Amino acid sequence: MGMFHEYKTTISAGDTVIIYLTPDSMYPLTMTPGAVQNNKFGSFKHDDMIGSKFGTKMRSHTGRGFIYLLHPTPALWTQVVPHRTQILYLPDISFISSYLDLRPGKIMIESGTGSGSFSHSIARTIAPTGHLYTFEYHELRATTAKQEFEEHGLSDMITMEHRDVIANGFGKTDLADAVFLDLPAPWDAVKAAKEALRKDTIGRICCFSPCIEQVQRTAVALNEHGFSDIRMYECLAREHEVRSAPVPDIETAIGGEKVNFKMSKSDRNKKRKLEAGSAEPSGEESAKLPEVLVSKPTDITRGHTSYLTFAILAPVDQQ
Ligand SMILES: C[S@@+](CC[C@H](N)C(=O)[O-])C[C@H]1O[C@@H](n2cnc3c(N)ncnc32)[C@H](O)[C@@H]1O
Repeated sequence: MGMFHEYKTTISAGDTVIIYLTPDSMYPLTMTPGAVQNNKFGSFKHDDMIGSKFGTKMRSHTGRGFIYLLHPTPALWTQVVPHRTQILYLPDISFISSYLDLRPGKIMIESGTGSGSFSHSIARTIAPTGHLYTFEYHELRATTAKQEFEEHGLSDMITMEHRDVIANGFGKTDLADAVFLDLPAPWDAVKAAKEALRKDTIGRICCFSPCIEQVQRTAVALNEHGFSDIRMYECLAREHEVRSAPVPDIETAIGGEKVNFKMSKSDRNKKRKLEAGSAEPSGEESAKLPEVLVSKPTDITRGHTSYLTFAILAPVDQQ
């Protein structure tokens, strides 16, 4: 049994462990007695992992390398989840969670479930007393998500229903604090969302759509059904990474003669040749410069994911 909404220290049989090789290479593994995991760093026995502490750095039997055994979290799951669909990533998930005012005890409705990336985060946010009702009309996706929720210890908090919400609505009335729609035509589910939202307090909705034409149709439908405070946002995250970079002092930078750090004999010879014009500067010269830590945006910046259209259903709008 995994534990996505609470922490434990020791790995048991049946747990989901996130195997970390490098920052760009991680995958989930279910602990199975007797099984062996092979990867580019060698062989690792599940029996060695079971009983170890989460966070352990484990060497392979061949000694070729090591892995870390990480505790699963919704944030890590979003990075390793097997994609059956497009998924939501953390910048959108965190913004939506806070804008929908999600916290422990809230009741949430979501459709479609897709790969369950969003569902895992929501379940953790509303735990332990809240509940997520999630709906998916693709049967295999619904079955796979249900199985993952069970394996991750979330089935008490998530009700997974195989259902076409455009054709049949959510089958819920006056129940949810918030509704999230990640559907091709969310405007067709706005009426059902209104029915499902609580009427005694402010109900909140968010629709996630990649195209502005979808936003327009959704906004019209929200307005027609009495929602107010309709707003649209787009989340663009820019990650920075820390690197060390060579820093020439001012004399070196302008090509002056004085350098204020100690040079080896061969470097002094190279410098002499450079000054005499008999050698080309190579990467080695800059590599010898003193280094400082700098931060720069990563080369790959995730751009537009989708537009987030929010609205509220205030009790006063019901009268
Ligand atoms: C982009 S995926 C959702 C991804 C999800 N938010 C995640 O983070 O993993 C959209 C899902 O909506 C489902 N869907 C589309 N129309 C639907 C409908 N009328 N009723 C229920 N599910 C629907 C699709 O099958 C698809 O799995």
